[in-house]
Amino acid sequence: MPSELYRCVYYSKNLIAGGSLRIAEEIESILAAARRNNPPLSVTGALVFNRGLFAQVLEGPCPSVESLFEKILRDERHGDIQVLGFGAARERLFSNWSMAFLGRSREDQDLFGHFGRQTGFNTERIEGDRLLEIVRHLAFEEEARAA
Ligand SMILES: Cc1cc2nc3c(=O)[nH]c(=O)nc-3n(C[C@H](O)[C@H](O)[C@H](O)COP(=O)(O)O)c2cc1C
Repeated sequence: MPSELYRCVYYSKNLIAGGSLRIAEEIESILAAARRNNPPLSVTGALVFNRGLFAQVLEGPCPSVESLFEKILRDERHGDIQVLGFGAARERLFSNWSMAFLGRSREDQDLFGHFGRQTGFNTERIEGDRLLEIVRHLAFEEEARAA
């Protein structure tokens, strides 16, 4: 089924050198690329940056998610990419956003906690669902604030 919906959930380590201003500039440039490239690919999703880690959810048709994620994998602004979930999904969770940027107001909190230290194959699925929950929760909060 060519139009089947896929979802990719991963987290990665920030490799942007410099202070918070430089990081903010690079995140702006990432979000500008997402606003430009994701709508024609029918990709929606969310990006969180917290305490040196990125977490991203990409959802859309399988070929779009695959080709976009391959490009993102090669981006030198992050590394140690841990894919927590990649598979068919029933519905879009972030249908309103080409790429929501979340957690701006929660910078003082450790949103991901143990994810940076997560190991082992068996926990992967559960951890993916958990990360997705965290990102969804942030999105709901953001929406409530905007309303
Ligand atoms: C954590 C992270 C998330 C990114 N997410 C996206 C994205 O959702 N869409 C996108 O087009 N580029 C994203 N990028 C940027 C891409 O790696 C790449 O730089 C960009 O797509 C290039 O855009 P261009 O082909 O229009 O020049 C992301 C980069 C990082 C480090």
